[in-house]
Amino acid sequence: MQTTITNSVKIAADFIKKGEVAAFPTETVYGIGANAYDEKAVRKIFKAKGRPADNPLIVHIARKKDISVLAKEITPSAKKIISEFFPGPVTVILKKNEIVPDVVTAGLDTIAIRMPASKIARELIMLSGVAIAAPSANLSGSPSPTNFIHVLRDMRNKIPCVLVGPSARYGLESTVIDCTGKYPVILRPGSVTLEQIKKLDKNAVYQKRVGKVKSPGQKYKHYAPKAIVKFVKRETSNVKRETSNVKRGKAYIGLNKKYAKGFEVVKVCKSIEDYAKNLFSFFRECDEIGIKTIYCEKVTEKGIGAAIMNRLSKARGKK
Ligand code: TXA
Ligand code: MG
Repeated sequence: MQTTITNSVKIAADFIKKGEVAAFPTETVYGIGANAYDEKAVRKIFKAKGRPADNPLIVHIARKKDISVLAKEITPSAKKIISEFFPGPVTVILKKNEIVPDVVTAGLDTIAIRMPASKIARELIMLSGVAIAAPSANLSGSPSPTNFIHVLRDMRNKIPCVLVGPSARYGLESTVIDCTGKYPVILRPGSVTLEQIKKLDKNAVYQKRVGKVKSPGQKYKHYAPKAIVKFVKRETSNVKRETSNVKRGKAYIGLNKKYAKGFEVVKVCKSIEDYAKNLFSFFRECDEIGIKTIYCEKVTEKGIGAAIMNRLSKARGKK
């Protein structure tokens, strides 16, 4: 299949309108979208990604009023989050309306809804005239794409259109929040933090994988580069060992220069936000040059640190 690479939102919208898929930029990561109301079109997304059919998609909207088309009820906990964080890097889970095909929600009676802050993404949705179901635009299991080059690596000749836009501002996927209950439950941490959600509702919690998996995508090994991902051990002895001579095939990413010595490839991030923004693209860069092991600095699971630790744990393939 030939892939049209374009910076025209109209051209990309025309693909969506005719039941095809198109990759597009958002402020979190790039997505691959299709008309959320068209079952056949949505199936093409699963096929291109090699995504398991039991992993539901997020439906993207451009106007808040479209939430009531997709969801049965906007709960009080959802209302607060929507008014504070839509448009933005947040997804709310609500009970779904019949109009949404089962393929989108993997047969669940709930639906994930997000209104991106990215103007290009919202323009695409408006011009398409429908809601757009879209997962991240990577092959299933690979790190999410944060620029269009990553998308082309994974999706060229697998999808008919890639809409080129800016690199992702946040670099990690949206915070997914279950709003079907009395209080918000974070199922996937992201750039909007538990601490921020708690300001709206003090009972909000982050539910790490316990018992029944609520966010099906969280059960898979994910976000993983081909290289082995390890945590940098902070003990001095270990640092000494790592720094004795340059370790070929080994890379480091983190916040602390002190741990970076002795690695062949190094990314020292300026801030925790910078760490989040660069993590996936660093994974991809390391794979391209044949790095075998990526050592990542652990961060405190506070604020956006919770999202970084969640992605790192998945990349290591540990639960
Ligand atoms: O930032 C993002 O969220 C990006 C951009 C493109 O919007 N999208 C994204 O989609 O990360 P995806 O498909 O890679 O991740 C969606 C996550 C998965 O973990 C999925 O299981 C969960 O949301 N999810 C979707 N629908 C759900 C539902 N009804 N209940 C619980 N979790 C759901
Ligand atoms: Mg994904």
